[in-house]
Amino acid sequence: MRQYSNPHTKRWSQKIDSLDAYIFVIPEYNHATSAALKNAINFLYHEWNNKAAGFVGYGGAGGVRAVENLRLVMGEIKIADLRAQVALSMWTNFENFTTFKPHEQHDKAVHLVADEVDCLGGSTEDVTSSVRSTSIESAAGIGRARSTNVRSYKDADRCRQFRSSHL
Ligand SMILES: Cc1cc2nc3c(=O)[nH]c(=O)nc-3n(C[C@H](O)[C@H](O)[C@H](O)COP(=O)(O)O)c2cc1C
Repeated sequence: MRQYSNPHTKRWSQKIDSLDAYIFVIPEYNHATSAALKNAINFLYHEWNNKAAGFVGYGGAGGVRAVENLRLVMGEIKIADLRAQVALSMWTNFENFTTFKPHEQHDKAVHLVADEVDCLGGSTEDVTSSVRSTSIESAAGIGRARSTNVRSYKDADRCRQFRSSHL
């Protein structure tokens, strides 16, 4: 376990291990997530476990199939996939299919993804112990996950409010 020989794998392992939650920003290729991302995910296992993830997809159809595809992978590596998602169309959210020009509705959506990841994916006990247990917490084991960033009480209040308005 975790017996890596390549320096790049060791660096990748340390980076993924150091984080409690992730936001995957992914393109869609032939109705799936990219092969490069899947390959990078496959290099590790334990480092991903008992974390949470949110998603921003992009592509001709907003990358929604790529995100659905990636959600299937999440279960196997024991990541709780969160509901909020941003779907960016190459047709309407990028100028000439290159320059990012998001519609203002996506501003709200991206904040929702960030809040879900921050409040539901955060592993701090001062937040998780003070609110009712939710199915996503049970699924992710979030209450038992490592606590690397202890939130302030202000953050705890903000997250409590977020949970009660979105769950
Ligand atoms: C081989 C190939 C397959 C693609 N398949 C899809 C697709 O199934 N659905 C979609 O919405 N976009 C598809 N696209 C468009 C890509 O999502 C789009 O080009 C995107 O910008 C790629 O992101 P990247 O340049 O960051 O890798 C495809 C592009 C290529 C080159």
